[in-house]
Amino acid sequence: MKVLGIESSCDETAAAVVEDGRNIITSVVASQVEIHARYGGVVPEVASRQHMLSIIPVIDRALGDTGIDCKDMDGIAVTYGPGLAGALLVGMNVAKTISAARNIPFVGVNHLEAHIYANWLDSDQQTMLGEENLFPCLCLIISGGHSDLVFMKGHGQFERVGKTRDDAAGEAFDKAARILGLGYPGGPVIEQAATQGKPSFQLPRAQLRDSYDFSFSGVKTALWHLAHRENIVQDDSRIADIAASFQSAIVDSVVKKTVRAAEDMGVQHILVSGGVSANKALRNALNQASPVAVHIPPIRLCTDNAAMIASCGYFHLVAGEKSSLDLDIIPSLSFMDKAAIS
Ligand code: KG4
Ligand code: ZN
Repeated sequence: MKVLGIESSCDETAAAVVEDGRNIITSVVASQVEIHARYGGVVPEVASRQHMLSIIPVIDRALGDTGIDCKDMDGIAVTYGPGLAGALLVGMNVAKTISAARNIPFVGVNHLEAHIYANWLDSDQQTMLGEENLFPCLCLIISGGHSDLVFMKGHGQFERVGKTRDDAAGEAFDKAARILGLGYPGGPVIEQAATQGKPSFQLPRAQLRDSYDFSFSGVKTALWHLAHRENIVQDDSRIADIAASFQSAIVDSVVKKTVRAAEDMGVQHILVSGGVSANKALRNALNQASPVAVHIPPIRLCTDNAAMIASCGYFHLVAGEKSSLDLDIIPSLSFMDKAAIS
């Protein structure tokens, strides 16, 4: 079953075709990072306009790469939230138009849930093939807008058990990079700077005992004070040490909380996803600290892409779900909290 995935929730315009939820036939991502970099972050209005310019060429390129025609698709999956309203509308309207014109079933997918499905893509991992042993598992989704711990009982069955109380992990990286004058997006530049430094500064790690929630605003504020106290201007080695200290504080908090949640819940697998999971220090630390199997997608599939949207859409479509053409975008969409479900 071939599904066309479309993604336009933030600053990447993307289209992909995925077969049976696992095999990527084609995946095209047009990044707007360079356009937004000059403003130090994503400008919503600029993002929507750029999606309008890119969406058709991106879909054409994805299909042209393989010679597949739209009419050969068995389904269309599109992000309906969370994300920037104007940006989401572009992908949603294109998906509805193709669905109506070609009479192809379409399904709206939650972008956060889709990040988890990056773990199914091009996977030769035994656990993904033998799913009977995978569930229930714990999912860690760490991106620019979210930091969630989600208990996954099966396909489409999610309960959020932890979330950030303030900044998302990726947002903290982005703000820290701005404070240190390193540019945008912050995660990759902090990671790069950290390779030249040592985590010699002690920055706070919020514990939030008796909770699986995260908090990253304290470490960001501490970094701001440290950067001003240390007068970092023109001192690359000190910037590198501060970047390494910051990265290490975020990695420590994420790893400790995730491992504790996995142990408490008795799961055998942790699925990691979202842009911040591209961070090598985090990938290594989680693998080392976790007593259970840790699965992290290849780096190119950690950040926003449409293959994960197509994969997630496939699992909804095979479960018999599809969306009607009056589906609307939900910019503030999230996972249901456990308390709200039970
Ligand atoms: O998942 P994503 O592409 O978009 C959202 O759905 O938010 O995540 C983007 C976020 C940005 O905040 C970016 O700084 C962060 O992921 N990120 C990283 C790395 N690569 C991207 N954070 C830490 N280390 C990285 N290597
Ligand atoms: Zn994302």
